[in-house]
Amino acid sequence: MIIPLEHKVFQLISEIVTVNDLQCYVIGGYVRDLLLKRPSKDIDIVVVGSGIDLAKTLARHIGKKGRISVYGNYGTAMLRYDDLEIEFVGARKESYRADSRNPSVENGTLADDQNRRDFTINALAISLNRETFGELLDPFNGLHDLEHKIIRTPLDPDVTYSDDPLRMMRAIRFSSQLGFAIEKKSFEAIKHNRQRINIISRERIIDELNKIVLSPKPSVGFDLLEKSGLLELIFPEFDRMKGVSVMENLRHKDNFRHTLQVLDKLAEKTDNLWLRWAAIMHDIAKPVTRKYVKGHGWTFYAHEFVGSKMVPEVFRRLQLPLGASMKYVQKLVLLHLRPIALVEEEVTDSAVRRLLFEAGDDIDDLMLLCEADITSKNDEKVKLYLNNFKLVRQKLREIEEKDAVRNFQPPVDGELIMKTFNIGPCREVGVIKNAIKEAILEGIIQNDYEQAYGLMLEKGRELGLKSD
Ligand code: CTP
Repeated sequence: MIIPLEHKVFQLISEIVTVNDLQCYVIGGYVRDLLLKRPSKDIDIVVVGSGIDLAKTLARHIGKKGRISVYGNYGTAMLRYDDLEIEFVGARKESYRADSRNPSVENGTLADDQNRRDFTINALAISLNRETFGELLDPFNGLHDLEHKIIRTPLDPDVTYSDDPLRMMRAIRFSSQLGFAIEKKSFEAIKHNRQRINIISRERIIDELNKIVLSPKPSVGFDLLEKSGLLELIFPEFDRMKGVSVMENLRHKDNFRHTLQVLDKLAEKTDNLWLRWAAIMHDIAKPVTRKYVKGHGWTFYAHEFVGSKMVPEVFRRLQLPLGASMKYVQKLVLLHLRPIALVEEEVTDSAVRRLLFEAGDDIDDLMLLCEADITSKNDEKVKLYLNNFKLVRQKLREIEEKDAVRNFQPPVDGELIMKTFNIGPCREVGVIKNAIKEAILEGIIQNDYEQAYGLMLEKGRELGLKSD
């Protein structure tokens, strides 16, 4: 079977290997994605010989348009050309030790190189040699597995996963990302080998986990992580959400299932990784706050508050970034009950103003999360809630237009307070500032300078301060 390779760089490589009498192939993810019609800019080239030498020769031909980086320790080189990233490596044969994911490496043939790869769909290669240019080399029926959407390892799965346990995460990630099924034997091997995930660095694990979070239906990946026993090892707080308890015939919902439903619903609306993480974390404190109150039922008192406090420790352990994105997730977890409370009580202007003030520019994301959070099986109830949310959104727009509290800047600041009353930084400044903020949020005064100035004088007098 001949696969058309359109980019001119493949012809160029082919000419070089012909002149130098080398054998050379495109391999791995680029071939898989080409056959799946998923455009990719990452190309892996394998050559029987030195990948670095081939990359250097190609770089000389291309001249200024290409930029080469050589990684001598790994025997690889990367060439950036147009918008492509082309990685060159010599074909290798690898053998692994039990305690490490770093193999000992020897030079090998194309077949050796294909043998050491993770999945049949990732072991496909296309020839760049002149006589066979474009020919597909498929020793493990990867094309069949691509067509039938199967994740299968080229060797005995116990060997492939034990050699490099990150591949267990990759199998689940590809399954979630591409909608493929993991072959039964392979999944059994993931279960056996799951403890070996402990030798993999957390950075690499989180890379795969984030790809699962970003996949079209993330519950596919999380279900597989749970069933394989990997979830318990890499993200125990999430695993702990499973299950239902019953007391006096009252049961609470399975928070793991519920969270996955919320995540899937949200994934239909947004590719924002952190908003998806907020969905994962929104009820994370339910297991630790769960309490049965006699005659009342199950309660999860303050779970939004406790949950937002749990975010940093989870992010730290998973090695997710601890800056603005974490703060954003914390904020959404903390506020996730507020819009629904607005609906259930009365949608007063001041309650809406307070929510706008606290959520700031993240208000639209918060509303998306809250809408996804409605997972009742009762269609009528869902309709009612969604309709009420429409009213909340409308009210949010009206109040925002009128009062502009989304990015609240006090119309009278601390500097002015200190100058007016001729005082330095002290408790009274905070008291006055807070009184102004509260009055605006409660709708007692408008969000403008005149009224805020008036209130400042009044509060100052009450506190016994003198103005000039
Ligand atoms: N590979 C492997 N085992 C791993 C990682 C990678 O065998 N743990 C091989 C596979 O043949 C893979 C190739 O190296 O196709 C390139 O890996 P990488 O660029 O990490 O992934 P891709 O398969 O290209 O997929 P993606 O770009 O979606 O990560």
